[in-house]
Amino acid sequence: MAQVHEYDSVIVGAGGAGLRAALEAGKRVKTAVVSKLYPTRSHTGAAQGGMCAALANVEDDSWEWHAFDTVKGSDFLADQDAVDIMCNEAVASVLELERMGLPFNRTPEGKIDQRRFGGHTRDHGEAPVKRACYAADRTGHMILQTLYQQCNKYGVEFYDEFFVLDLLMVDGHCSGIVAYEIATGELHIFHAKAVLFATGGYGKMFKITSNAHTLTGDGPGVVYRKGLPLEDMEFFQFHPTGLYRLGILLSEAARGEGAILRNADGERFMERYAPTIKDLAPRDIVSRAEFFEIKEGRGAGPDKDYLLLDLTDVDPEVVEKKLPDITEFARTYLDVDPLKEGVPIVPTAHYAMGGIPTDVNGQVLANHNGDLVPGFYAAGECACVSVHGANRLGTNSLLDIVVFGRRGGIAMAEYASTHKLLKLPEDTERSVQQWLAAICDGPGEESTYEIRSTLQEEMMDKASVLRTDESLSEALEAIDKLRDRFTRTRVKDTCKIFNTELVEHIELGYLLDMAQALVVSAKARTESRGGHYREDHQMREDDHWLKHSFITKVPEGLPQLAYKDVVMGRYEPVERKY
Ligand code: FUM
Repeated sequence: MAQVHEYDSVIVGAGGAGLRAALEAGKRVKTAVVSKLYPTRSHTGAAQGGMCAALANVEDDSWEWHAFDTVKGSDFLADQDAVDIMCNEAVASVLELERMGLPFNRTPEGKIDQRRFGGHTRDHGEAPVKRACYAADRTGHMILQTLYQQCNKYGVEFYDEFFVLDLLMVDGHCSGIVAYEIATGELHIFHAKAVLFATGGYGKMFKITSNAHTLTGDGPGVVYRKGLPLEDMEFFQFHPTGLYRLGILLSEAARGEGAILRNADGERFMERYAPTIKDLAPRDIVSRAEFFEIKEGRGAGPDKDYLLLDLTDVDPEVVEKKLPDITEFARTYLDVDPLKEGVPIVPTAHYAMGGIPTDVNGQVLANHNGDLVPGFYAAGECACVSVHGANRLGTNSLLDIVVFGRRGGIAMAEYASTHKLLKLPEDTERSVQQWLAAICDGPGEESTYEIRSTLQEEMMDKASVLRTDESLSEALEAIDKLRDRFTRTRVKDTCKIFNTELVEHIELGYLLDMAQALVVSAKARTESRGGHYREDHQMREDDHWLKHSFITKVPEGLPQLAYKDVVMGRYEPVERKY
């Protein structure tokens, strides 16, 4: 029998979005956070370069310029009402974190310091602007620590190393979750008036990624299996500077501080692709340029398969003080000293623009018509509000988690305060128990490890920065075969205590679902926009494709697609020049 816990609000995931939501909910109603990891090990801790807000501490700036950059960076797919909210609330959000004790870097006068980042400009694209507030290259780590301390102060209860397996629904209303306690193998039911998912992304479907091993699409995976839609799954961001072969992130802040990207000939190739802002163009443009450089034979190294991040002209004191972690990563993992030589880099799978569709208060959409799921919320990378559209700007992610985590937390607490606890569905845990039993009793001639690594290779080769109908069809065929093989895997470890084989098996199931959703959505979108670049459809087609995709799993056959109009505002789509 599962243990049952009752709360007003339950948040799944303890990264920045989950903790920011928990802080608001915890001040108002009885709140628990259920997390696969110990909270401060969440992937927000790996976010390096900064959180943007038009503070204008260092250079002239305005939140409207920030909104313009975000919309243009998104290749005009972002919903402009949501973008306005995010950019407008950014300044207060940063100051709030400062008051909570976050140790931002300072200007000589003691203000929060700011630096440049890709796609952030002054006066609608005139020149790069210093907008990113930062704590060296450990900004996410500092946000996580600060928010965790605050949540403890306000009495939020934590269930660490609990893995979400199911969402409980009664007549279309959310009434809780089922989770698996990794330390004991026990099932727990969290019976709640409101639930918020903040489970992060799913970059582990790709071979080269900056994402931690735990980023396997758990939240969106549960939602998808419930028959609820996912939005804009075709848009996945590759960050231009991942360590060669490893994918470990080297922050864009390096280029913000003056580093330059070079090809094998030593050429600053971004001058050809983005003459105005060069190395600080948005990530989709820079990553694509890197792929083209390699494809056309200008990559560096014996296999001509990487580019170089050149920090040798950046003041060594700036490198050591403002970029200490990434300098150390290059030294430790590649034995390269960034002060003396170029660091080998490649694009690395970094961020899912798509996810669980929500309104601007984090409430989950039930369909492309905009109907809402009562009692169910999502925020952060697992959600799609959509402020990033087809391509996210660097530092807008830490901003997104704080702004929409806060809004989601307030909204769910208000809902919980005005609604009763619903009854639990009949036989709440039985289907989960049957599922777990089947995983352990299956035939078992296939290997989870082999299926995962084949998936990562296939997605990297066929559905990453450059795509065609042919490559996506091949990827889909490969995923179908892997899904079939997955049904013949078996968890051999029957131990209940820290059964990581069981956890990895379930994670792989979620990854296979996310990969299918991504590829089906990408195959249908016969245009190029932001992070979705089709070599066989190179133009953006606003007349037909200025719309969000909604993909829904159906009992038989391929998932179904529907579309929803983009929320427009001040900015009409124009050609995206940088
Ligand atoms: O490059 C970076 O520091 C990453 C930032 C981000 O993804 O927002």
